[in-house]
Amino acid sequence: MSKLFATALTLAILASTPALASENEVGEKLFLQCKTCHTLKAGQPNGVGPNLHGVIGAKAGSHAGFKYSPQLKASGLVWNDATLDSWIANPRLKVKGTRMVFIGIPDAAKRKALIAYLKHATK
Ligand code: HEC
Repeated sequence: MSKLFATALTLAILASTPALASENEVGEKLFLQCKTCHTLKAGQPNGVGPNLHGVIGAKAGSHAGFKYSPQLKASGLVWNDATLDSWIANPRLKVKGTRMVFIGIPDAAKRKALIAYLKHATK
């Protein structure tokens, strides 16, 4: 590796790290409004809403022991960037009859930060 390349690489890492940290911080703050109903880590109990551990890539309504609405269970959704984005934007528009009583986050950049946070916080 040339010295110039190494320097450029270091600078790129230095430049990208704070950006990642701040998107994650934004996401974590946004999750405060979900926290009243949802836990994130493996083995934590369901609350008003289901525990979200492993939710990325999971079929909607599949977390063990949670009593979902028949509508969410029957939605056929699989949680990924796109489905989470429209769900968080307006859960009741996405799945008519859902039991998730949440108004939604209209700001796309905020939803993106929240989904980025969810991706690692639910692992
Ligand atoms: C007032 C309580 C409440 C709040 C606040 C809330 N949720 Fe929910 N959430 C629920 C309930 C209840 C369900 C199950 C919905 C159903 O069965 O129709 C749910 C379901 C979900 C699911 C689907 C889980 C699965 O296993 O299929 C995701 C993802 C989710 N919520 C994310 C969020 C996020 C992100 C926020 C914050 C922006 C949030 N929720 C805020 C109560 C809540």
